[in-house]
Amino acid sequence: MEELLLNSSLVSVDTLSKLTTLLLVFLLLLLCTTWTRTKQSDIPGPSFLAGLGPVLSYTRFIWTGIGTASNYYNKKYGSMVRVWINGEETLILSRSTEVYHVLKSVHYTARFGSKIGLQCIGMEGKGIIFNSDVSLWKKVRTYFSKALTGPALQRTVAICVDSTAEHLNNLQEVTDSSGHVDALNLLRAIVVDISNRLFLRVPLNVKDLLIKIHHYFETWQTVLIKPDLFFKIGWLYDRHKKAAQELQDSMENLLELKRKMINESEKLDDDLDFATELIFAQNHGELSADNVRQCVLEMVIAAPDTLSISLFFMLVLLKQHPEVEVRLVEEMNTVKNENPGENINYQSLTTLENFINESLRFHPVVDFTMRKALEDDVIEGMAIKKGTNIILNIGLMHKTEFFPKPEEFNLENFDKTVPNRFFQPFGCGPRSCVGKHIAMVMMKAILVTLLSHYTVCPRQGCSLSSIRQTNDLSQQPVEDEHSLTMRFIPRTTQPTQE
Ligand code: HEM
Ligand SMILES: *[C@@H]1O[C@H](CO)[C@@H](O)[C@H](O)[C@H]1NC(C)=O
Ligand SMILES: *[C@@H]1O[C@H](CO)[C@@H](O)[C@H](O)[C@H]1NC(C)=O
Repeated sequence: MEELLLNSSLVSVDTLSKLTTLLLVFLLLLLCTTWTRTKQSDIPGPSFLAGLGPVLSYTRFIWTGIGTASNYYNKKYGSMVRVWINGEETLILSRSTEVYHVLKSVHYTARFGSKIGLQCIGMEGKGIIFNSDVSLWKKVRTYFSKALTGPALQRTVAICVDSTAEHLNNLQEVTDSSGHVDALNLLRAIVVDISNRLFLRVPLNVKDLLIKIHHYFETWQTVLIKPDLFFKIGWLYDRHKKAAQELQDSMENLLELKRKMINESEKLDDDLDFATELIFAQNHGELSADNVRQCVLEMVIAAPDTLSISLFFMLVLLKQHPEVEVRLVEEMNTVKNENPGENINYQSLTTLENFINESLRFHPVVDFTMRKALEDDVIEGMAIKKGTNIILNIGLMHKTEFFPKPEEFNLENFDKTVPNRFFQPFGCGPRSCVGKHIAMVMMKAILVTLLSHYTVCPRQGCSLSSIRQTNDLSQQPVEDEHSLTMRFIPRTTQPTQE
């Protein structure tokens, strides 16, 4: 027994010292790579300090997360800052003129991130989200566009209403003994079911899939900007590698099932779903099997990683602003009464759209987006070198320009028409969110279905500012204990009175 204890303590001392050595090596390497570089830009930012500056700024990004670090640097040095990530010059932009320039330009259609890290999650040269092989990305993006716009949008409403209603009908299954529901996981389950019904259409074990999606996201966030050395440290890296592999394997199994279903069906529907289109593309030699798997994986994780959390924030905000909930419910009732029996006209739900926009502005899930300059360029008189990493700090932009009450959650912020360049929750231009239209439709349909039947009640004292959150790859609540659970209270026939 003692020997065992001794052994294990020896092991940990050994690994610790190894880690320290590796860290030292890594710092030295960084120093060497950056040492030779001359300081060439006059863009504000932390100083080079003989190579220590790049080490410190990289450490901040790894330690506090990309989003938090970006906000720190913009607040400290202004709307255009030069920092270093892994020794590479990185600009953080938060002013609308510069952000809009990059969004609209064709010179920034790549992203940046650790090559090994992206390989680990299957995104290096594959899929869409972090695929920086521009010609392959373009090809893949047409498949996403087709599935997320046009006729697909029309099918979406009915599927969202259906799925939400179904999950609400089975609420007791996810309610704990104190009458609370894990709202974020409920929203994730709804959203992944909708994605499956729209894009994949195979039988799913939703619970199992959601856990794997969650772990995959954690891996993504962990490996994205890590130094190459990280991937050599087994006890740090292996479990992340495994988590990424597990979702990839699940996707492979689902696709195999899909291929069988396609083979066995006598006649295929007129409008083919996303997965079928991709499988056909593979059969015709257009796309590799790995690429098809990655595309389907990214389509399946896109909504649970973004939309469900946005909706969760919206439910919390609604409870903090009961007058807004009253307005929303009144508007829903008015629109329903105007055309009873008809499908609800989402276009006339203007307060709802204001509410969604103001929520995305005030408390976004996606706080920034990452790009890479593919050509030399000039932005507002600043020379941008080819290869420069770019972070567009859209979240901060939304709180520093144009809006009358930038630091407040207030629907007045959308009373006046907001010119495009000041409000970009999904980005715009060639590398914008390809799901931006369907995301708006989905959020509206889910919210209307949910709010016409239920009002939610988060735990006492639970508010946006009290929930612990991280802002690394995106802004997320920390899911511990029961802090995120809510009671779902059925609305009475007169929904505006509680
Ligand atoms: C509230 C929900 C959502 C928000 C706030 C959001 C936001 C964003 C943002 C800011 C980007 C980066 C754009 C840029 O770099 O300019 C992005 C990219 C992307 N989004 Fe969304 N998104 C949401 C929902 C969705 C949904 C539902 C889907 C698909 C079903 C989706 C699919 C994608 C894809 C595939 C990309 C990568 C596009 C590319 O690199 O070409 N998103 N999203
Ligand atoms: C589908 O059927 C073809 C022959 O009709 C066969 O070659 C192929 O292996 C089948 N694929 C699957 C996934 O069952
Ligand atoms: C909400 O934001 C979208 C852009 O994401 C915009 O097209 C729409 O006009 C905005 N709606 C309102 C009411 O401001």
